Amino acid sequence: MKIESIRIRNYKVFKDVYIKDLPNFMIVVGANGTGKSTLFDVFGFLHDCLIGNVRQAIDSRGRFREVLSRDSEDQVIFFEIQYRMQILTYDRLVTYTLEIGQKNNVPYVKKEALRYKRGQYGAPFYFLNFSDGHGYAISNEEDFNKPDEDLEREDASLGSSDILAIKGLGQFDRFKAANAFRRLIESWHVSDFHITSARGRVETTGMSEHLSESGDNLARVAQYIFEQHPDTFNKIISTMKSRVPGVSNIEPVLTADGYLTLRFQDGAFKTPFLDRYVSDGTIKMFAYLVLLYDPDAHPLLCVEEPENQLYPHLMTELAEEFRLYANRGGQVLVSTHSPDFLNAAQIEEVFWLVKKDGYTSIMRASENEQLRDYMNLGDKMGYLWKQGFFDGADPQ
Ligand SMILES: Nc1ncnc2c1ncn2[C@@H]1O[C@H](COP(=O)(O)OP(=O)(O)OP(=O)(O)O)[C@@H](O)[C@H]1O
Ligand SMILES: [Mg+2]
Repeated sequence: MKIESIRIRNYKVFKDVYIKDLPNFMIVVGANGTGKSTLFDVFGFLHDCLIGNVRQAIDSRGRFREVLSRDSEDQVIFFEIQYRMQILTYDRLVTYTLEIGQKNNVPYVKKEALRYKRGQYGAPFYFLNFSDGHGYAISNEEDFNKPDEDLEREDASLGSSDILAIKGLGQFDRFKAANAFRRLIESWHVSDFHITSARGRVETTGMSEHLSESGDNLARVAQYIFEQHPDTFNKIISTMKSRVPGVSNIEPVLTADGYLTLRFQDGAFKTPFLDRYVSDGTIKMFAYLVLLYDPDAHPLLCVEEPENQLYPHLMTELAEEFRLYANRGGQVLVSTHSPDFLNAAQIEEVFWLVKKDGYTSIMRASENEQLRDYMNLGDKMGYLWKQGFFDGADPQ
């Protein structure tokens, strides 16, 4: 499953943007305040809508008035996400649309729909169509041989107009496209890594197979990989050794009082260091490797400014690790302020944000002829960015 395009209207700084042919690995640069975090928050927002409801997701972002693009004439927030997925043996391009409005000061789902073409030709068919808490979904969508009129429509009421239909119905296996999309958004991982959370001993129980968004279960995930995927763990250690001078081994250890901690061995000394006492960058690099070598990659991963705390020469390898992760079946979005990181990027991967008169547009490097020419001559994205070739990207 892959996201192909995103359209956003009236979501904060994005009054009207469209990104088509989204690459597997997308790198976004832009001046402060142009909307990098907001772009990633679109997925965070949909995620929150699914975990709770639309009202909570809006309210936690400062209520409808704050979320709606300032001075917008239209009082509706709109998202359209197109994704490709296999339904039976067919590859389908599914379009999900969501409109959020406000009634009596309360946000609600004005319209929500899922559609795709049933055959090679013809108009897209609505498999799910809801407005204001009521609508229908098709429950035998896989019967592609049946004519449209023989599909079974299940009318449904969601009980509330701030619940997404893909949440209400997506739990049922028979609604294939809704179900797959719900799972994708639910397992979306927006990294909000904090070195302080990743340090220190942790209890041995709790989620342990994937690194959490804050990184606070690092020791547990390390232990899981150490025990269940020793080859991966060894790869992480040998990569750490080559990138962080002095690190010769890392080991998850159980303390006498039943907690789990990480022990960092420096080849120069007999006694290892506890994770509390190793450097910030050491913890961060280890956490990235644990995240990126995850045997079961997230379908969508989003990381802001991965360069922080890390030595600039390591950016090429780090970028390659994000790319490999994306190619293992997920999609990765990264924002960066690092020319070194960008130097490792391919032109198709790079986008930049330009804010004008309060709203932001998204520019694509591969659509800029001059950039294409320079890259064909062997130049690098980071250098070109620094030399001012990303039109409008620099603050005026
Ligand atoms: N409702 C709204 N309408 C228009 N603009 C908004 C709205 N809400 C927030 N903004 C603006 O959107 C911008 C949000 O920027 P965001 O945090 O996404 O930037 P960023 O690119 O991540 O910046 P940084 O590099 O500093 O992290 C801010 O400039 C903010 O003023
Ligand atoms: Mg930001």
